[in-house]
Amino acid sequence: MRAEDVPGVERLTAEGFYDLDLRTHPRSWPEPAMRSEAKAGRWRRRAQHMLRHDAGGCWVAEDGTGLIGVSIALKRDLTWILASYAVRPGLQGRGVGKQLLDASLTHGRGCLRGMLAASEDPKAARRYRLAGFTMHPAMFLTGKVSRDLLPVVDRVREGSAGDIDLMNSVDRRVRDSAHGVDHELLASEYRLVVIDRSTGSGYAYVDADGGPYLLAATNRRTATDLLWETLAASSPDEPCTISHLSPVNEWAVDVGMAARMDLMSTGYLALRGMKPPLPYIPSGHFL
Ligand SMILES: CC(C)(COP(=O)(O)OP(=O)(O)OC[C@H]1O[C@@H](n2cnc3c(N)ncnc32)[C@H](O)[C@@H]1OP(=O)(O)O)[C@@H](O)C(=O)NCCC(=O)NCCS
Repeated sequence: MRAEDVPGVERLTAEGFYDLDLRTHPRSWPEPAMRSEAKAGRWRRRAQHMLRHDAGGCWVAEDGTGLIGVSIALKRDLTWILASYAVRPGLQGRGVGKQLLDASLTHGRGCLRGMLAASEDPKAARRYRLAGFTMHPAMFLTGKVSRDLLPVVDRVREGSAGDIDLMNSVDRRVRDSAHGVDHELLASEYRLVVIDRSTGSGYAYVDADGGPYLLAATNRRTATDLLWETLAASSPDEPCTISHLSPVNEWAVDVGMAARMDLMSTGYLALRGMKPPLPYIPSGHFL
């Protein structure tokens, strides 16, 4: 993959996931929507960052018509992380995805651990299981959060790039590998909230609609306070979401229940050589 491929790759993944959403969408869920321009811009900046730091994990497939697939993987400490993976609708199921995933996996040579957030697509699940990943079914919570359900949360502060050492320490405790350079990008793209008390430390990046984009803490009490802080950032009139929850993270389900959000399940947290991190809410792309 080259820098000039990024805009085409962004469009390809937007179309691929829209097509998947249409195919797998249960009637009780919010309507599938094409990726917004704001999200597309964020997607392109993220891909450029990954290409800069993990060129060996970024691969595209082409035929005579142009780009037909992409796979983007990162290596953080000694953990391999799949950030993005899609083949153009209509050309799936013909072996292109296998070649792309195999190429990205070579970037993780020497890594015993691996993690990725898997979609609902059975073709993806097949690829991941055949690559040795354990598939942990993933839950999410969604709903409008009423102001009167929000508890008062003490001693949460706004974070900054000055908290990166603290965040890397928390990452290593919770999931063995630090996010490292990804914190530089994440801190520039998302609001960051931090707790650093004698009884526990942690951080959360807050999604644009409120709710967590990524959350890690040294204990459940701290994680719970951080999760409430991210929910407080949502609009009472718009739904917000807590995504990619592995079953061990029941503390987060309990927060969602207290906030009267709806619990549903979709996709998997796919892990190799590691247990589901706890207390932890992974992001879809940096895990
Ligand atoms: C997941 C994805 C990237 C895989 O690429 P692909 O080119 O379809 O993958 P491949 O053809 O190499 O492998 C698909 C496997 O599923 C099998 N398969 C094909 N159609 C299938 C179906 N309808 N149901 C289940 N398995 C199917 C194929 O036979 C193949 O297995 P095999 O190699 O053992 O024969 C692609 O399908 C895709 O873009 N899906 C939508 C987006 C998505 O879910 N991305 C993953 C994000 S986590």
